[in-house]
Amino acid sequence: MNQPATIRWQPAMAGRAGPLYRAIAAALAEDIANGTLPPGTRLPTHRDLAWDLKVTVGTITRAYQEAERQGLIGGEVGRGTFVRDPRRLVDATVEAGGLLEPATGLIDLSVNATALWPDAAALAAATQAVAQRPDLTALMSYQTPLGHPRLRAAIADWLADTAGLHVTGDQVLLAAGGQGAMQVALAAVTRPGDTLLVEQLTYPGMRTLALHLGLRLVPVPMDGEGLLPDAVEQAARTHGAHALYCMPTLQNPTTATLSLERRRALVSMARRIGLMLVEDDVYGFLKQPAVPTLASLGPDVTLYVSSLSKSLFPGLRTGYVIGPRPLFDRMATVLRATILTPAHLGTVVAAELIDSGEAGRIAQRRRALVAERQGLTRTLLRSLDLSASDPDVTHVWLPLPDNVRRDDLVRAALEHGVKITSAEAFGVGKAEVQNAVRICLLGVDHAGQLERGVSVLDGLIANPVASSATLV
Ligand SMILES: Cc1ncc(COP(=O)(O)O)c(C=O)c1O
Repeated sequence: MNQPATIRWQPAMAGRAGPLYRAIAAALAEDIANGTLPPGTRLPTHRDLAWDLKVTVGTITRAYQEAERQGLIGGEVGRGTFVRDPRRLVDATVEAGGLLEPATGLIDLSVNATALWPDAAALAAATQAVAQRPDLTALMSYQTPLGHPRLRAAIADWLADTAGLHVTGDQVLLAAGGQGAMQVALAAVTRPGDTLLVEQLTYPGMRTLALHLGLRLVPVPMDGEGLLPDAVEQAARTHGAHALYCMPTLQNPTTATLSLERRRALVSMARRIGLMLVEDDVYGFLKQPAVPTLASLGPDVTLYVSSLSKSLFPGLRTGYVIGPRPLFDRMATVLRATILTPAHLGTVVAAELIDSGEAGRIAQRRRALVAERQGLTRTLLRSLDLSASDPDVTHVWLPLPDNVRRDDLVRAALEHGVKITSAEAFGVGKAEVQNAVRICLLGVDHAGQLERGVSVLDGLIANPVASSATLV
């Protein structure tokens, strides 16, 4: 049987603190994460690596044991030590009847999630580092109900780096994910029975939240660039609304990004008529250089909500909200009433990723994955017009030709094992919605699954009658 060749591995050791074996394990984790050591790579023998690094064989043995404990590598007697495929860890969990649902074979392109396995090693390394923190127990106490100042400062650094938003840690309120941040912001500026303005097509999580908070949603018309400030003003006056929820950058689902001019117009109109802008920026980190946020243009009239769910890991449940001082106190009260104190452990891991520079590298990998999968999708759908869908984001917004109805396509696709979302899911009330679908590109682990799913869609759109009786 053919054995993979052993590589010569040169870990970057400069600037690594802590015991040598752990530094080598961290370098190994990093090179697995960045693709230098792909799954299946046979690592050097303990003796060879010890020689190359001028350390003892015992140090290498401990380093490999550490990496093995983290699930990064595995060994077989007589064959050597190999880089494991992180996806196999997931398969193993499924097989063991663990936390994850058994695989159904469905290609799910309906959820704006991200394949997380490329970042598994980085997460393991950060969690490992957190476990060694001498102040870990102190960070888990009730002592800092709004979150430890150092953790809030890490989020402020992240906002400066990825959103061009300059705030201090004490302006950051930690919430339970982006959804929790939205809840905190809305509870602070609305009361049950109020009207909340939203984009004509909006994030479905806002529809459920509005229902829960007893808010009436009123859709505001958009064009290809997003919200129309004049239409917002008119709707606010007509319906007596005091708040608008919107996604100015890479809107979900239309992918529209508001121009600087419209952002300025929105802010000055909000000041003039007393409207509060709730800006959701969860996809903003994908747009680089960052477009100025509403919060930086109008900090007095904006509640900025976002999270690390799209840029890092949704399971960290690290969301945050930033707003002007009087509302800050009200939001802190809402937080106290709903979650008492943020889930510190997720935020500590997030802060570790940010402070070590790893978060920046993960976000960069996400952008690269978006570019790769957008390229693949656009090649497969080349006969369709995707010019209005921004390629910088994790999904494609696909207006359909007249002979293909969105709900028929969604149904036929599901019959073929592919799940996508109809524009209807983003509509508000009885307002008319476009004949379009949303296709999420990063929720499946492999590009091959995406390729299969998109090919099915392409076939169904190109040949609607033959592919399903329900299509016109
Ligand atoms: C626009 C928008 N806001 C908020 C969220 C929720 O994010 P989180 O997972 O951090 O609660 C999502 C998730 O898809 C989203 O698309």
